[in-house]
Amino acid sequence: MPAAATATLLLLVLMGWSEPATAHPLHRSLSRPLRDPKTGQAVVEVAQHAQKKELEADTNIRLLPRVNGSQDHLKICCLHANILDFYLNNILHGHRDDAHPSMHRLKTDLHRISEDLQSYGCNVTHYHDHRHAVEFRRKLEKMEGERGLNKAVGEIDILFTYLQDHCVEPTPTPTPAL
Ligand SMILES: *[C@@H]1O[C@H](CO)[C@@H](O)[C@H](O)[C@H]1NC(C)=O
Ligand SMILES: *[C@@H]1O[C@H](CO)[C@@H](O)[C@H](O)[C@H]1NC(C)=O
Repeated sequence: MPAAATATLLLLVLMGWSEPATAHPLHRSLSRPLRDPKTGQAVVEVAQHAQKKELEADTNIRLLPRVNGSQDHLKICCLHANILDFYLNNILHGHRDDAHPSMHRLKTDLHRISEDLQSYGCNVTHYHDHRHAVEFRRKLEKMEGERGLNKAVGEIDILFTYLQDHCVEPTPTPTPAL
């Protein structure tokens, strides 16, 4: 291979590699509340409130699987749209609005994000059996009742960060499959 072609290939590989790790300040978010500092603040407040109630024994447990950054952004986005849907229907649903002053705002904004992602084309049902979604539900079930619910609320900041980082307008590359 000519040197120039090798260099170009190397550059592409490097770009491909560094891409998942970078935030996307220039890319348009797929849902406005994902970029709203007030939403971000509500997320952090509610998460920290739950983390303070965590049992000492539970601090090393983690329910949400770590994201594999080398995978397609939109797939990671839609996987977490599925997990968000689960949060709205099963975790936050029973959480009283007065559990925390920011809870009402948080629920309203997360509902909006969920709707936006689904109208963008995330098929939430499609990700129901994804390894990560299954693992999350299995670990949650194992923690049982209030303890597990509280742990999940304490991880809502992680979920929000994953959505922020991956639910962005795709760069114009060959059509990404959702
Ligand atoms: C991450 O995804 C890539 C591409 O799909 C795969 O080759 C790799 O094994 C995955 N890594 C982990 C830790 O799952
Ligand atoms: C969404 O995914 C489910 C499960 O994979 C599939 O049965 C359904 O047809 C999909 N819906 C749309 C609108 O693509």
